[in-house]
Amino acid sequence: MSLASHDPLLQPFTIKHLTLRNRVVSTSHEPAYGENGMPKDRYRLYHLEKARGGVGLTMIGGSAVISPDSPPSFGNLVLYKDEVVGWLRRLSDEVHAAGAAVMCQVTHLGRRTSNYTGDWLPVLSASPLREPAHRAFPKGAESWDLDRIVRHYAEAAARCQAGGLDGIELQSYGHFLDSFLSPWTNHRDDELGGDLEGRMAFPRRVIRAVREAVGPDFIVGIRMMLDEDRPGGLAQDEAISALKAYTADGIDFVSTIKGSIESDHTLSKVIPSMGQPSAPFLEWTGRIKQELDIPVMHASRIADVATARYAVREGLVDLVGMTRAQIADPHLVNKIAAGQEDRIRPCVGANYCLDAIYQSGDAKCIHNPAAGREQTLVHEIGRRSEAPRRAVVIGAGPAGLEAARVLGARGHHVVLFEANDEVGGQIRLTSPSPHRRDLIGIVDWRLAEAKQHGVEIRLGRFAEASDVLAEDPDIVIVATGGMPNREFLGEGAELVHDVWDVMDGSLRPRGDVLVFDDHGGYPGMDAAEVLAMRGTSVEFVTPERVIAPDVGAMNSPAYLKSFAVHDVKVTLPYYLRRVRRSADGRLEAVLWSEYADLEVTRLVDHVVVEHGTLPVADLYHELRAGSRNGGEVDQEALLAGRPQEVTRKADGRYQLFRIGDAVTSRNIHAAIYDALRLCIAL
Ligand SMILES: Cc1cc2nc3c(=O)[nH]c(=O)nc-3n(C[C@H](O)[C@H](O)[C@H](O)COP(=O)(O)O)c2cc1C
Ligand code: SF4
Repeated sequence: MSLASHDPLLQPFTIKHLTLRNRVVSTSHEPAYGENGMPKDRYRLYHLEKARGGVGLTMIGGSAVISPDSPPSFGNLVLYKDEVVGWLRRLSDEVHAAGAAVMCQVTHLGRRTSNYTGDWLPVLSASPLREPAHRAFPKGAESWDLDRIVRHYAEAAARCQAGGLDGIELQSYGHFLDSFLSPWTNHRDDELGGDLEGRMAFPRRVIRAVREAVGPDFIVGIRMMLDEDRPGGLAQDEAISALKAYTADGIDFVSTIKGSIESDHTLSKVIPSMGQPSAPFLEWTGRIKQELDIPVMHASRIADVATARYAVREGLVDLVGMTRAQIADPHLVNKIAAGQEDRIRPCVGANYCLDAIYQSGDAKCIHNPAAGREQTLVHEIGRRSEAPRRAVVIGAGPAGLEAARVLGARGHHVVLFEANDEVGGQIRLTSPSPHRRDLIGIVDWRLAEAKQHGVEIRLGRFAEASDVLAEDPDIVIVATGGMPNREFLGEGAELVHDVWDVMDGSLRPRGDVLVFDDHGGYPGMDAAEVLAMRGTSVEFVTPERVIAPDVGAMNSPAYLKSFAVHDVKVTLPYYLRRVRRSADGRLEAVLWSEYADLEVTRLVDHVVVEHGTLPVADLYHELRAGSRNGGEVDQEALLAGRPQEVTRKADGRYQLFRIGDAVTSRNIHAAIYDALRLCIAL
């Protein structure tokens, strides 16, 4: 018998009549891949990839909505149209054929949506209390609203059943159902408020209606806040009593949630980002499970296989959610089964996946660009059939490492030059940040994979054109990154520091520091936080309307906490116009308001600026003349996944490409995506 056959994670599990092939679940999550609310090709292929990758149960439709008065607020699937049945059917057929089970989360979002979207019907909740995150002022639901919503729940469940799904999961944390159950959100003075009996009466009515609609065999679970984790919120004993009543009404399994999701701060605890402890609610779930006699599922930052295995082995859960872990690597289960755990692409907890939904319209993994792009990209790279070529990659930041990894996996002979003694580029600079240092997993995995594929890594080598040409390459990839841009400053660039000086420790700060952030991303926030932690008095200045608009709701809470704890002063919207040495040797920083056309002056000990990077591209320009394509990328071929075949100079010896920040200042995902889609076709 193989080791895998004893692995607790790989043991089957039965819910009612349904036997799952293993204990690993991708819990309900909405990646916003639907088209007009329908799970079409992109959505289906995303889940099919996990099914092919070995997952036991994949749950679709995070917060799939049942009513027009629950309009999609983050790309949710729409279950109130009959059209959805055909799309569900196709998805469930293909996922089943790949060996996995599939269920859908079903919900009325209640106040967790907007009054200004979809059909513009008034947002509803048990009581008219605003949700801080989505900011709608809801109407307190009337009895005729409730009659309609009960009917919609039942109809949506029936559509899921008709679509061939194995079951559904009702959502009861932060949405409509639990707005009744929780005393925090239920302030009603009718028979649906007050004591526990009153508060659970409406959810029980919904569950009974759903059960009646789908019959006794169809699986109906609930994802439920079993402790709201705040004074005045839903207490654990009440929640468990409610769950037992729900079970009597027809609930078959529970997925446990601790805490609430109404604000960025509370949501970021329920779905913890990097820098927070692993599996924070696992032991708590284990204690809850002792009080229940239905199957228990749980997910919350169980990102590594060892913790997941421990959770199942110790009986803390029946089914373990590894949701972001399988966004990062949908083949996770297959790799466990094949004894290749060390090859799993790790989820580093960046929560770019969640933040990207609001910032760029759909979920994207920070270091797996193929996630959600299954129509054009593969997750596992095969060797090419043609003869290998000689490739040189210069620069071992995220873009260069990805290029080396992918070219190596394609079977090319790859030499990777890095000027520093360590790989990682700008990711390494995040190490002083308490909540960003886990990003190093992006580097470590790529380095290990590159070595696995035989990439020759030359550290501490500042590659000149002659070094590159000495390799007699067929392909040259310039991934030399960028350097901090201070040139934007009209006067005083030589007097200021950049965020790299802060992060690499070369600036020993003291006194008052002004951080000017004209980027709106992480680096300025990292620098301000690190400076404040080092005991300086920090003023954070930005010309934006809000601070760091590119740092989303899941990642900003950690900074905002630090800013509050260390009393970082925030000033907006001002530009930094010039910096001069003052008579007493300090620095005079002149800020300018574009709106009022006025200047104000600060006297400080240091000025730190963040304005992105400027490409380090000398080598690229030097190598262009000898190249066949002059550095040109055929963008149509790139987007279509075809090989690059541009010839601008017939006797050019090699193809030359430039990727990542060596092109222009961009984020980690963009750098890695640049490398992957180019190199996968070389
Ligand atoms: C992109 C994304 C969207 C999510 N949407 C939902 C959702 O609609 N409903 C829900 O119950 N959970 C949602 N979640 C939470 C996940 O189901 C899961 O609880 C969370 O990611 C923590 O588990 P993990 O650490 O294994 O990823 C979402 C998570 C992600 C990453
Ligand atoms: S973006 Fe970050 S948190 Fe989300 S799946 Fe990728 S590595 Fe994990």
